[in-house]
Amino acid sequence: MESKPPRYDEYLKMYMEMMSFAKEELKRREKSPVHIPKEKIDREFMGQNWVLLVDPRIGFNSRIIRFWINGFPPGEENNQWKTMGHRHTVEAVIHVLKGHGYSIIDGVRYDWEPGDFICVPVFAWHRHVNLSDEDMVYVASTTGPLSMGIGVAIYEDERYPEYWVFAQKDTAEKKSLIPGAVEIPDMQRGIPKGIDPAHYEGSTAAKLYFEQLRFAEEEEQARRKGKVLVKGKDLKFERTPMGWVAPVVDPKLGFHVKVMSTLVAHMEPGKRSGAHRHLYEEVNHVLSGEGYSIIEDKRYNWEKGDTLSIPVFSWHQHFNTSREPARFLVHTGRPAMENIGLMNTQQGEVAD
Ligand SMILES: [Fe+2]
Ligand SMILES: [Fe+2]
Repeated sequence: MESKPPRYDEYLKMYMEMMSFAKEELKRREKSPVHIPKEKIDREFMGQNWVLLVDPRIGFNSRIIRFWINGFPPGEENNQWKTMGHRHTVEAVIHVLKGHGYSIIDGVRYDWEPGDFICVPVFAWHRHVNLSDEDMVYVASTTGPLSMGIGVAIYEDERYPEYWVFAQKDTAEKKSLIPGAVEIPDMQRGIPKGIDPAHYEGSTAAKLYFEQLRFAEEEEQARRKGKVLVKGKDLKFERTPMGWVAPVVDPKLGFHVKVMSTLVAHMEPGKRSGAHRHLYEEVNHVLSGEGYSIIEDKRYNWEKGDTLSIPVFSWHQHFNTSREPARFLVHTGRPAMENIGLMNTQQGEVAD
C-alpha cells in the first residue's frame, strides 16, 4: 500500500502531537485507576475463572504489565490441554495462592504449593495440573501489553490451532522457543550451511552481522538455562531504604528475563515502607495485612486481596496499620526500562 503524502497542516499536527505527548501522558496517568479492591475478584469470579485486574484494555494506562487472578478446579487447567498447553512471546510470573500440583514447562515438571512462584520462559509450552481437591488459585503477571504494543505478541494455545502461526508447521517448530526457527532448513547456530564466516575474516560489519544471526539460538539456550521455580519458603527478606524486601525474579538472580522483575515486600505491624518514585510501571498485590498507601498525595486503604497499580513516576509509600505483618507481591517493568536506558529512581523518606 502506498502512503499518501500529508498536507503541511497535517505534518504540523503530527509534530505538535509529539510536543504535547508528555503533558497529555501526565493527564492519562492521573486518570488511570490505582486501587482495585478484592470485591472485584469476589464479584467477577462468579461464573468465570479469570479476572483481569490490571490491563490497558480495561482502562489502565499500563504499557508493559498485565495482572490477573485465575482459579481452576482439580485436574488440568484447561480441559483440552493434555500435551502442550500454550506458549507465548511474553514473560510471565505466576504466584500460587491456593492448591498444590505441578506445571509442565518445556517438557520439565515443576511441583508447586501455595507461596511458590513460577517464571515461565518466553515461548516455552506450559500447562498446569491441580492435584489438590480444592480450586487452584494463582495471580499472574505477564508482559502481554508490551508484546502486543510492539506487534510481536504470539499466543499459541492447544485449544485454538486455527490461530497458530508456527506450531502447525513442523514438530521442530513445536520444540523451539524461537518463532519461525526452522523455516530455513540446514542452519547451524543461525547461519545457513552454505555461508562460511571465514570468508568474511577481518570484517567488523560481518562479525556484527553473524552475532545478529546467532542471537536467537543463543537467546533460546539462555532461556532454557534460566531459573523457573522459586519456593515461597526460600524467600530471604533483607533490609533496604524501602523496607524489608525479598527479590524473587530478577535478571541479576539467574532468571532469563529482560522486561519484568518480581519481589515480595514485608512490613512489620505498625511500620511504614520507604517512599520513592520511578520511571517504570509497578503492580502491588496485597498478600497479607491491612493498611493504606499514599500515592501522589492521595490515600488508598487496602487489605489482603487488594491490588494497587502505581502509575509511572508517582511517589508511593505504604503503611501497615494491622497487627500482623503486611506483605506485597510486587511486579515491575524495571528491567525493560534499564535496557532502554530510561530509568530513574528517586528515594524519599526511608522505611522505619
Ligand atoms: Fe501462560
Ligand atoms: Fe516502587
